Amino acid sequence: MGLLEGKVAVVTGAGHGIGRGHALELAKHGAKVVVNDLGTSVDGEGSSRDADLTVKLIEARGGTAVANYEDVADHEGAGRMIAQAVDTWGRLDILVNNAGIVRDGAIWNMSPEDFDAVMRVHVRGTWCPSHWAAKHWRERHKRGETFTGRIINTTSGAGLVGNFGQSNYATAKAAIAGLTLTLSLELYKMGVTVNAVGPAGATRITATMPGAPPVIEPDEVPEDEWNPMDPAVSSPLVAWLASDQAQHVTGQVIRAVGENIIWMRGWTDGPSINNGGKRWDATTLGTLLNTDVFGTRAPGLRY
Ligand SMILES: NC(=O)c1ccc[n+]([C@@H]2O[C@H](COP(=O)([O-])OP(=O)(O)OC[C@H]3O[C@@H](n4cnc5c(N)ncnc54)[C@H](O)[C@@H]3O)[C@@H](O)[C@H]2O)c1
Repeated sequence: MGLLEGKVAVVTGAGHGIGRGHALELAKHGAKVVVNDLGTSVDGEGSSRDADLTVKLIEARGGTAVANYEDVADHEGAGRMIAQAVDTWGRLDILVNNAGIVRDGAIWNMSPEDFDAVMRVHVRGTWCPSHWAAKHWRERHKRGETFTGRIINTTSGAGLVGNFGQSNYATAKAAIAGLTLTLSLELYKMGVTVNAVGPAGATRITATMPGAPPVIEPDEVPEDEWNPMDPAVSSPLVAWLASDQAQHVTGQVIRAVGENIIWMRGWTDGPSINNGGKRWDATTLGTLLNTDVFGTRAPGLRY
């Protein structure tokens, strides 16, 4: 019995790279997969039927998949994508939001169009499929059905710790981490977990960076070979999060980079100061912040 036997999954942006790796992995463990891909260039121009490539690979390995060519950031299109899973196989269990583009540049060189395009695909393109998936699960929950569901979003180190030249992408990826936390709260009572993975691999996206290694597609790496740049290095983590074994894991952000799986600790309360019920004075506030919060100044003798 496969880890995901009988599950129905949608993986967005699965025509290439990391998404293709996830789709192959989910199918390997028994899931039926809607392989979504708009088939754009790495900066989001044009469209093609790249989803077919991954469907063929899954079928050649004995799995079950159908192609979907919608734009994930198009609200109605995202609805049709989720409906395709339900119409084809009766329900949705797993949504992996992975589609993405990049338009890098230092902020002084970046156009507002490049900011908007990247925000649209990553943030709106995660929210829209999640919206339709949530509506599907909410209907089933209201009917009294007991089930499990999964949303696995795709964030990035750029959004979690920052990266020069990616103010659009980093903003979008940080937003996805924030969205993950809130969706995890909204959906858990229905049996749905929501987590975010920060993947890695030598894909079309990384190939846009100077000195980056050449693009590898996950199916080009033999199953028994370890390649730290394989875009599928995070796919086993995604498959486990998608499985019933991970029902207790929600609202988490986990990176999978090369050999390492890293549980990211989010924003947590650090040192604080208290105004004792009086308005802060901007002229004296800095001294207290420096001594008691940032620790950049010795406090001096206090007793
Ligand atoms: N490669 C890395 O090291 C790395 C690191 C961190 C995060 N990521 C993230 O992983 C995800 C996958 O990227 P990748 O590196 O595999 O790049 P990729 O270009 O190989 O794959 C992205 C896929 O998304 C598709 N796509 C783009 N816009 C779409 C849209 N509007 N609707 C549907 N499909 C669309 C593209 O056609 C493409 O096939 C992205 O979210 C990316 O930000 C990648």
